[in-house]
Amino acid sequence: MVNSVAPRVESLATSGIQSIPKEYVRTIEEQTSITNIFEEEKKEEGPQVPTIDLKEIDSEDIKVREKCREELKKAAMDWGVMHLVNHGISNELLEKVKKAGEVFFQQSVEEKEKYANDQETGKIAGYGSKLANNASGQLEWEDYFFHLVFPEEKRDMSIWPKTPSDYIEATSEYAKQLRILVTKILSIPSIGLGLEEGRLEQEVGGMEELLLQMKINYYPKCPQPELALGVEAHTDVSALTFILHNMVPGLQLFYQGKWVTAKCVPNSIIMHIGDTIEILSNGKYKSILHRGLVNKEKVRISWAVFCEPPKEKIILKPLPEVVSEDEPALFPPRTFAQHIQHKLFRKTQEEFKN
Ligand SMILES: [Fe+2]
Repeated sequence: MVNSVAPRVESLATSGIQSIPKEYVRTIEEQTSITNIFEEEKKEEGPQVPTIDLKEIDSEDIKVREKCREELKKAAMDWGVMHLVNHGISNELLEKVKKAGEVFFQQSVEEKEKYANDQETGKIAGYGSKLANNASGQLEWEDYFFHLVFPEEKRDMSIWPKTPSDYIEATSEYAKQLRILVTKILSIPSIGLGLEEGRLEQEVGGMEELLLQMKINYYPKCPQPELALGVEAHTDVSALTFILHNMVPGLQLFYQGKWVTAKCVPNSIIMHIGDTIEILSNGKYKSILHRGLVNKEKVRISWAVFCEPPKEKIILKPLPEVVSEDEPALFPPRTFAQHIQHKLFRKTQEEFKN
């Protein structure tokens, strides 16, 4: 498919098609592992994504505090993904953010096109759908809205949704509170590596340079969910990623050689350790492979905030304190932009081999 304008998946989904275009059909190998997500979410056996209760993260009782921190650290080393509960952001605010995103997406595709991004000219903020970045033209079953939400002075308010009218207020407040949580969270893996508590945060850009990018993922109902993926298997390039969703399951994690479905935990925020922290920690913290399934019955929406270091300013490499003769650096030095390029290149190489 030659497309300077990406097709909107929502338009396809609502056109009444019974079978999906071939660009959305995954490889036979992938299809063998795609199952019904509602059935998967019900399964109780096997490993489950850990739930970390942050209620005691700042407890004055050192033992209580350490127990909470230790659990988060362990989850970051073992899984690299977790459900955060009692994270300090009110449920009321989370609901407001989600409602605002839902109302934006309830508008017609024509209305949303007014916010369309232009990936080919590098204007990635706005309403969009993924362009094929590989020879096979493979596409994903989702549309999205993408924009920077923090630091406030780096935001481009001209592209933020004007509908609904409280979108800006709710999303800005969420970003502000999430940024405070980021500092708290990063102190734990930092101390866990034997570093100063503020070190990891500083290494990813600190208050001025760490960018919080919001991506609202909209996964329309899919007539053939057993053939498609909402998001193909990948690891996040970010330092940390925080995800809200509309309680429709979809996220799967590749843990110990199997796809594990994340349960929908009320009032929680899912948090991923991304490649950036994996690199800085020389692999001690994991950036887990994950993907998104789609379904026939319900639209799924998720709100991901990617916390990313600046593209060029910082060279990411294992910190000297975590490297030794016995544990040599597992990752070569690369800027964030180079890391992204490298992943894309590696993916293309793998496709040529297939
Ligand atoms: Fe991801």
